[in-house]
Amino acid sequence: SVIRCEQETIVIGLAADSGCGKSTFMRRLTSVFGGAAEPPKGGNPDSNTLISDTTTVICLDDYHSLDRTGRKEKGVTALDPRANDFDLMYEQVKAIKEGKAVEKPIYNHVSGLLDPPELIKPPKILVIEGLHPMYDQRVRDLLDFSIYLDISNEVKFAWKIQRDMAERGHSLESIKASIEARKPDFDAYIDPQKQYADAVIEVLPTQLIPGDNEGKVLRVRLIMKEGVKYFNPVYLFDEGSTISWIPCGRKLTCSYPGIKFNYGPDTYFSHEVSLLEMDGQFDRLDELIYVESHLSNISTKFYGEVTQQMLKHSDFPGSNNGTGLFQTIVGLKIRDLYEQLIAARAKTPVEAAKA
Ligand code: ADP
Ligand code: G6P
Repeated sequence: SVIRCEQETIVIGLAADSGCGKSTFMRRLTSVFGGAAEPPKGGNPDSNTLISDTTTVICLDDYHSLDRTGRKEKGVTALDPRANDFDLMYEQVKAIKEGKAVEKPIYNHVSGLLDPPELIKPPKILVIEGLHPMYDQRVRDLLDFSIYLDISNEVKFAWKIQRDMAERGHSLESIKASIEARKPDFDAYIDPQKQYADAVIEVLPTQLIPGDNEGKVLRVRLIMKEGVKYFNPVYLFDEGSTISWIPCGRKLTCSYPGIKFNYGPDTYFSHEVSLLEMDGQFDRLDELIYVESHLSNISTKFYGEVTQQMLKHSDFPGSNNGTGLFQTIVGLKIRDLYEQLIAARAKTPVEAAKA
């Protein structure tokens, strides 16, 4: 039983609407764990799974119980719980967590059909990403850590336009219509999950440019729940105090509209949280070390690791603002949580398993 406990998979949930930066976040996270995750070799080319040495990322769209035609016929969206098989999701995540391989279905995003299943072996870290990782209480209770990417409507709209208009040739009207059509189900089934998240990354329009809603300059808030085991919230300067900081000046080059940080205690869905906010964007990523050196509890293994990660992936979306910065930090915090969990289990396997 000692061995089984040490091998037990750690499960992370990442929730967000589609097109809200989950795959970008996953690339930052797996990079922190020491290697890019790739599609399974020799499998279905339309598999949604990503695998690295340590981490397997599965996309919860694979638990769609209704395929595209089924959803059309019944008039339900992919966001609707009735289009998803939570019993199977629970059974399979539980099995993987217990060290058992499963035959997971594949939702083919190209055809809109369910393909034959693929074998998923228990990894060290399983990430379940998608629309509903925290929706079903049984699945939620299996999560060792959970994250919600909360992209405000204005920003979501700006990103969709950028991607769907520029890359997919959709019209502005059709993008607006598809966002509007999803909104009721999004509000009913996706958004409420954020109350359960251990960390929320909230992305809002800037407040540095009056009346701005272009979605280019962003105000990003990292909301970290207090009292989560193996997760000590990040702080700026002095833990628990309330700080407003403009780092621009001699050590940080800023162009208009500048950069502003806020830090302090807060409440979120009646939970005590620590909140770290960054508004604005970086001009020079190599100067990020200046900001990094003023943050504590960032779970780096060496001085400058956040800056190094940000520089390494400067081509990823959001690298010049708080989205990239906070995703990177949350990735480091998850690595830390993983290492602490493993160390605790190795010490007292029976006790740790019960906790
Ligand atoms: P998901 O996996 O949730 O569908 P992606 O990570 O693929 O989302 O991102 C979808 C698109 O949204 C990207 O191609 C990009 O245009 C935009 N995007 C995502 N994250 C950011 C960000 N931090 N800043 C700006 N644009 C972003
Ligand atoms: C996936 C995505 C959803 C998206 C759906 C497309 O399930 O996660 O966000 O809405 O595909 O559904 P559709 O019914 O338009 O094919």
